[in-house]
Amino acid sequence: MHFHRDRGFVHRASSEITPRRLAETRRDWLRDLALAAAGSSLGAFAARDALASTAPASRALPGLRSSVDGALTMEKLTPREDASGYNNFYEFGTDKADPAQRAQGLKTQPWRVSLEGEVKAPRTLDLDALIKLAPMEERVYRLRCVEGWSMVVPWLGWSLSHLIKAAEPTGNAKFVQFVTLADAAQMPGLRSRVLDWPYVEALRMDEAMHPLAMLVFGMYGELLPPQNGAPLRLAVPWKYGFKSAKSIVAIRFLAQQPRTSWEKAAPSEYGFYSNVNPNVDHPRWSQASERRIGEDGLFAKRRRTLMFNGYEAQVGALYAGLDLKKFY
Ligand code: MTE
Repeated sequence: MHFHRDRGFVHRASSEITPRRLAETRRDWLRDLALAAAGSSLGAFAARDALASTAPASRALPGLRSSVDGALTMEKLTPREDASGYNNFYEFGTDKADPAQRAQGLKTQPWRVSLEGEVKAPRTLDLDALIKLAPMEERVYRLRCVEGWSMVVPWLGWSLSHLIKAAEPTGNAKFVQFVTLADAAQMPGLRSRVLDWPYVEALRMDEAMHPLAMLVFGMYGELLPPQNGAPLRLAVPWKYGFKSAKSIVAIRFLAQQPRTSWEKAAPSEYGFYSNVNPNVDHPRWSQASERRIGEDGLFAKRRRTLMFNGYEAQVGALYAGLDLKKFY
């Protein structure tokens, strides 16, 4: 995919991106999305791509260019092959190549997400209903992993706030917890005790309501591949990558701050907030710089890590007065 100032996003045909056979059945909501996009001048290219790919095997997911402040990094995109070949998804193993190798059989249809806890009325939503809740948008975010690498990825989805509003949380809801799939039959990594399954993450309510916090269904113009968290995941660009939970099955509204999987595993290393911060080192390594995936090679220069991963102007106010060394 390329970005042209005057033409918006132009996706390469998926056959150019990868020669793999696409086996998904085209579903009605793809057509709905294409029609919605066609109704907007911004979506002209997305709609053209979607309509051009009426083949039954399409995984295309058209999206309008987002107008959310900070949603469009002009940095060079990480090649798609790198973003879906070098992954952390411990349910499929701890090696970076494990998810791409072992997650391909992940069953994402049918998929239901339950909305629970401090809400007016708990309920579950089918993926097909959920994905239509708000107009699909494309956003180019940096993802900075706590391990010291980063990527630039064109995500497809919309602000998590849309779902939170639809869930109708009660006044007691102060935190939002994300529970992800833990199915031993599909996920060989669950045999290892490396984390307490299911993988759980959480945000403070005001963080979750921030427009940059994104519920993601696709990347690079297509539905998410399994190894990147199909069929839906978070992208919280100002926090370390582990906050961006993959393959979400439940969203729970809570009065108290819950413990996250990584906090339980190593509380002195991974805090609840986990905001990207070059001035607060991990106990075992510096967080001052990062390696950009896809720019490998012995002499590739490391980049300086930015406060809040470069999103300080947008999210800094959420943490006014908070001691970021204490609340890491
Ligand atoms: N979600 C689940 N369910 N399981 C995981 O192991 N790893 C996290 C996060 N979400 C993880 C997860 C970590 S450590 C990172 S850096 C990102 O996913 C990686 O996302 P990516 O593979 O799409 O780059």
